[in-house]
Amino acid sequence: MALTGLKEDVLKLILFGGKGGVGKTTCASSTGLYLAKDFKTLLISTDPAHSLSDSLGQEIGSEIKEVKGVKNLSALEISAEKALSKFKIKYETQIRKILDTSTYLDQEDIDSIFSLPIPGIDEVMGFKTIVDLIEQAQFEKYIVDTAPTGHALRLLTLPELLDDWIKVMAKMRWKYRYMVETFSGKYNPDEGDDFLVEMKKTVNRIEGLLRDGKACEFIAVTIPEDMAIQETERLVNNLNKFGLKVKQLVVNNVLHPSLMDGKVYPPGLELRDCEFCRERIKAQEEYIKQIRRKFSNLKTTIIPLQPREVKGIEALDKFTGSLFQ
Ligand SMILES: Nc1ncnc2c1ncn2[C@@H]1O[C@H](COP(=O)(O)OP(=O)(O)OP(=O)(O)O)[C@@H](O)[C@H]1O
Ligand SMILES: [Mg+2]
Repeated sequence: MALTGLKEDVLKLILFGGKGGVGKTTCASSTGLYLAKDFKTLLISTDPAHSLSDSLGQEIGSEIKEVKGVKNLSALEISAEKALSKFKIKYETQIRKILDTSTYLDQEDIDSIFSLPIPGIDEVMGFKTIVDLIEQAQFEKYIVDTAPTGHALRLLTLPELLDDWIKVMAKMRWKYRYMVETFSGKYNPDEGDDFLVEMKKTVNRIEGLLRDGKACEFIAVTIPEDMAIQETERLVNNLNKFGLKVKQLVVNNVLHPSLMDGKVYPPGLELRDCEFCRERIKAQEEYIKQIRRKFSNLKTTIIPLQPREVKGIEALDKFTGSLFQ
């Protein structure tokens, strides 16, 4: 079976996620090449250890860049750090205003609060970049290569964390507003209020998009090994809990069943004479059965292990053959 439905016009955002090293970047890049044949496509990495440049075999950076050799494909490696510093520059006055109007805080308190990290704000701002891009509609498809499981899950729960932070700030504001209204009879919202409203909107936009089963799809990538399967189970369950329904699963690095026919693998070695290969294939067959049982509600795409790593446009283009047939 192959990945399906990615060319549906309503589907805008496709995220690839899974355990470290299972092939997320390769699947994301390869999907980028595939979709760019029909759509203006942007390939985005949110993994702090970006590897789109390595995968595509050309330098990508924190600004959108056209991918050389592929019409209609651009790429971007989002820097959460840069997004955070932009956030601080843009909103410092507003945040200070909220804190400043709180009766309990003096300047020293405010300085120390401002220098404290707001939970996950850097990554939320990174994700905001994606939502902004989608709303600007410069591209028709957005493919995201996420960091390994834990990080990706954290990213998805961050809007909630940020929401709590907004609530605390809003509470401070309400006390201030109440006092102003009590003593002067009238309250005019200022930039502090605008900031809170804007943040709340950002959280809602991110969550809304991620939970929109038509506009957004998360594709889990795994390999036929015990630890990877366990991690995939946790990932899929947590994503479901969050409201992001996973529908498709890629099982990568599968020793091709045709190898069982005694084809030469590795070069110069008859498979039926290679105990190592036979054992590996047997173990993989067990795990693939387990995957089919555990994830019976997901559409599974099996990808053969290639003789060489999948790097550069040509290799990725070939890889689309396995992913999409
Ligand atoms: N089917 C395959 N056959 C052979 N090599 C593969 C296959 N899929 C991926 N690779 C290679 O395996 C390595 C890891 O793949 P990739 O970088 O896509 O994984 P990842 O999940 O993004 O890793 P990380 O968690 O480190 O970001 C790369 O060198 C890639 O070229
Ligand atoms: Mg990667």
